[in-house]
Amino acid sequence: MISSEEIKKNLNTNIIGSEIVYYPSVDSTNNIAKKMAEEGCQEGVIVIADHQTKGRGRRGKSWNSPYGKGIWASIVLRPLIPPVRSAAFTLTAAVSVCRALRQSTGLKINIKWPNDLRINYKKIGGILTELNAETYRLNHVVIGIGINIENEIFPDELGNIATSLRLESDGESRFNKVGILTSILNEFENDYKRFLAGGLEDILEEWRRYSDTLGEQVQVIDYKGSYTGKALDIDSDGALLIEKKDGTLTKVTSGEVSLRV
Ligand code: BTN
Repeated sequence: MISSEEIKKNLNTNIIGSEIVYYPSVDSTNNIAKKMAEEGCQEGVIVIADHQTKGRGRRGKSWNSPYGKGIWASIVLRPLIPPVRSAAFTLTAAVSVCRALRQSTGLKINIKWPNDLRINYKKIGGILTELNAETYRLNHVVIGIGINIENEIFPDELGNIATSLRLESDGESRFNKVGILTSILNEFENDYKRFLAGGLEDILEEWRRYSDTLGEQVQVIDYKGSYTGKALDIDSDGALLIEKKDGTLTKVTSGEVSLRV
């Protein structure tokens, strides 16, 4: 079981972790965090659970969150940024999580656009960012982080695409969930401050280094349909730039990207 006290003890932050709320089981930590944010909670609140009955992923998918097998956590933030910068903000969170996982496990974790965490092209984690915004004003953001740590089995439909730190290590290793989570939160606090202070370019440069898809042929499914091309780069809005077969460039701002095999 995850203990808020232990997390607090290891946190080296003054924004993230202003309050830590733990539940053995919830529908979704993002739902609880959103409700707390709407009720006016302070910035930096973290909601964690050992189990989610209705864990949610990007693009309306569900997120498999078995009891005690992973990190299921959400953070409430109130950055003073226009909503258009929120995609780049989410890439920042992916960089923090990727760096923290690399440092605390020694495993070569990568990022697939926009913020899937992967090992050997299989997904070990993801980030679900949910905004509460007016056209030009962001009220709050909930950053939901899911990391598969000790999972040994996955539902059939995830069998080939999902994995866990345990499955990707020697199988005997035990991972310290609290240690990994506090490292993620410590890294994210630094990157959050860096982002707010105008340091996005350096963060994106690190994102590029962690990417396992830039330079590769990919298939994109978005509102424009399904097409293939080379993943060239990301831009400062957090969009993925694709060079299509005919040489034209297109920007992906939301959608599903997979390596073309
Ligand atoms: C993705 O589709 O890659 C994003 C997955 C995000 C899962 C996390 S687990 C904690 C938080 N609560 C949720 O319901 N989802 C996010």
